[in-house]
Amino acid sequence: MESKSKQFKRYTVTSALPYANGPIHIGHLAGVYVPADIYVRYLRMTGEDVVFIGGSDEHGVPITIKARQQGIQPQEVVDKYHRIIKESFADFGISFDVYSRTSAPIHHQTAAAFFKTLYDKGVFIEKTSQQYYDTEAGQFLADRYITGTCPHCSFERAYGDQCESCGTSLSPLDLKNPRSALSGNVPVLKETKHWFLPLDQAEGWLREWIIEGHKDDWKTNVYGQCKSWIDQGLQPRAVTRDLDWGVKVPVEGADGKVLYVWFDAPIGYISATREWSEKTGKDWQLYWKSDDSKLVHFIGKDNIVFHCIIFPAMLQSEGSYILPDNVPANEFLNLENDKISTSRNWAVWLHEYLIDFPGRQDELRYVLTANAPETKDNDFTWKDFQARNNNELLAVYGNFVNRTLVLTGKYFGGVVPAMGELTVKDREVLEQMDAFPEKIGASISLYRFREALNEFMNLARLGNKYLTENEPWKLFKTDPERVQTILAVSLQIVAKLMVLSEPFLPFSAARLATMLKSKRFNWQEAYTTVLLPAGHQLGEAGYLFTKIDDDAIEAQVQKLLDTKKANKQAAGPELKAQKETITYEQFAGMDLRTGTIVAAEVMPKAKKLLKLVVDTGLDKRTVVSGIAEHYQPESIIGQKVVMLVNLAPRELRGVVSQGMILMAENSEGKLCFVSPTTDFHNGSEVK
Ligand code: MF3
Ligand code: ZN
Repeated sequence: MESKSKQFKRYTVTSALPYANGPIHIGHLAGVYVPADIYVRYLRMTGEDVVFIGGSDEHGVPITIKARQQGIQPQEVVDKYHRIIKESFADFGISFDVYSRTSAPIHHQTAAAFFKTLYDKGVFIEKTSQQYYDTEAGQFLADRYITGTCPHCSFERAYGDQCESCGTSLSPLDLKNPRSALSGNVPVLKETKHWFLPLDQAEGWLREWIIEGHKDDWKTNVYGQCKSWIDQGLQPRAVTRDLDWGVKVPVEGADGKVLYVWFDAPIGYISATREWSEKTGKDWQLYWKSDDSKLVHFIGKDNIVFHCIIFPAMLQSEGSYILPDNVPANEFLNLENDKISTSRNWAVWLHEYLIDFPGRQDELRYVLTANAPETKDNDFTWKDFQARNNNELLAVYGNFVNRTLVLTGKYFGGVVPAMGELTVKDREVLEQMDAFPEKIGASISLYRFREALNEFMNLARLGNKYLTENEPWKLFKTDPERVQTILAVSLQIVAKLMVLSEPFLPFSAARLATMLKSKRFNWQEAYTTVLLPAGHQLGEAGYLFTKIDDDAIEAQVQKLLDTKKANKQAAGPELKAQKETITYEQFAGMDLRTGTIVAAEVMPKAKKLLKLVVDTGLDKRTVVSGIAEHYQPESIIGQKVVMLVNLAPRELRGVVSQGMILMAENSEGKLCFVSPTTDFHNGSEVK
């Protein structure tokens, strides 16, 4: 609660560093970067001193696994994806002050020095312990190199550091049925030395700081996860690994060891700030070490423990750093009712979106904010994307702006008319309009971005309704003065929309500024009623947004259906699980014989059944078989079969069936005969 009354002089806003092992998708944007960008743009517009930090997380096993899969060096992997990711962020207007990377020399120095400080202070516990080792690969199996069953939710592909199904953070020894991700082998245990951060010793102050201190200002999902972690009791955590990709452990006797990626990556925020300070001449230490700086981490829910417990514990043991004031983590965004997955290619990739929807960054930013997974997981569907674009952005905001500008052009040559006498209604609307900067700002400050965007749309709704109700197009002939006032009021709403949209929709805000030939205003200026003075010449009216038609949406849905199909094919046929074990006696009780079909006819009124006569060697008998949808009767005369002959007779549609012909059935439900491969005489035993 302290934080609410506290006055901050500057803001340090970080956004999770994405792993540079793949491009980024809508889930990244919705969960972390769009909310962070809205927050930062708002702060800048209010004149706050803020540094917005981003960068690529280039260490850790996800990177080396990818390199191995592709047969290239880890550095090549991160170079490729760092470039793609950085470009996507720029394309979507994520306005970082610096976008760095953890393979940068300044980061290696910063992270190594941080470790060394803690080491010299005697913070770490040095421990030799048993770790999983793959004898075939000759390598320790850290983190994602080991997979197995999650002890909490039984998900079968949990990693050594985390279960992606339930989000629990794990250590390799927690996994059931552990396997090496390198070879698939069952690993062995081998001794190795590592340094541990004694989280158990931090439990006391963490409890006080989070559970007592941030009960009211941290989001419930964040607070809840922290509380359950602390309540379960904190254990020392290894912060080094036996790997060759990462920041080398800067002490003696640590050959072949690097810092754990979750130790080095958050320090990446600090390294990036240093990089920024070198370029701008600002003092980075003020942003990290001064009590009047507000540190805010934007992350996804799978990062909560690292940012709320482990990184703060690191910062606190170092001693000279501030702790985060808030960690507004989001839940996950699903895509068409299925978890977004890089490996299954179940995602809307940002670089691909821009090929299909060029210039429509704000449309996506809008939908991802309106539907942001702020308090629970949410679903992105293409239908919803289309509906929100067509029925909200275009029909309400875009249309209001367009009608106002077109009418002003038509009646007044695009010159802002003067307000004449105001009606009570006019005054009410102007008063309501002036309340929006405050309302929207308050919601953004509380990290309620959906609510803020909805308020913004309420202003557009207010304008749209005002124009529709006043019908200036019907009045111009009889009362042009009244039309002047109506459009003057409408234009002030349009200008206010331009200013207030900027944190959410920066691209269309710029387009609108051009149409209005307006300067850009800061947030405080938006409190002013008249932003466009009478006599101001507007620019050319255009469309802020356009309709997205059914074809474009169907193409996207089809693309996802194709992905589903390809995944299914790649996964191979879906096999039924093995049945329960039977005894040899149960098997031997079945009398299976070779035979030949000697007659076949359709059964009246039974689509699926054929009536067959089979020569079993012992006799010729009638069998009713459910193969009519697969075989024509005349085509199977002479077919060799295997038949269960001692099955109890059964009446089917008035015909007694004396046995069962063996058929194989594949995953698509196709049938085929199982029969001897050479010319065996009828009645031969099958066993
Ligand atoms: N790369 C991590 C992820 O994608 C996030 C790292 S955030 C940082 O889950 F704090 F470590 F930088
Ligand atoms: Zn789990």
